Amino acid sequence: MTRTIYILNGPNLNLLGLRQPEIYGQDTLADVQALCEAVAGEFGLALRMEQSNWEGQIIDWIHEARDKAAGIIINPAALTHTSVAVLDALNAFDGPVIEVHISQVHKREAFRHKSYVSLRADAVMAGFGIEGYALAMRHMGGLLAK
Ligand code: DQA
Repeated sequence: MTRTIYILNGPNLNLLGLRQPEIYGQDTLADVQALCEAVAGEFGLALRMEQSNWEGQIIDWIHEARDKAAGIIINPAALTHTSVAVLDALNAFDGPVIEVHISQVHKREAFRHKSYVSLRADAVMAGFGIEGYALAMRHMGGLLAK
């Protein structure tokens, strides 16, 4: 059976390509999906990509991933820095988790330097632009091949 990777995106990432392009670039979430589909194909993986502005929805997808996904790639956006609930949900998931940030959060405001999700993530990407998602997919493919 083909294994599925969940790629979950938090608040405001629906505006990717429109909001603060000087920080997040011009590419959209559809571009991210196309990039990741190409890598998924190389590794024989399927992917499901989702975005929500609602914390509870992100948590519900993480719960669903317990039965349906081999791994999770997550850009929790602002929830990275605030959400113990997202961390707790990820702690209830057994597969690999990779945290992705488009921007280099450690070069930005001090409140972006703390990540609850990093307490669970097996790898963290920051500052690679949307290419970070593709690199995360590639790493995920390697991890799952082991
Ligand atoms: C982000 C960084 C977060 O600090 C911010 O709240 C976002 C996006 C990133 O991808 O660089 O919304 O996760």
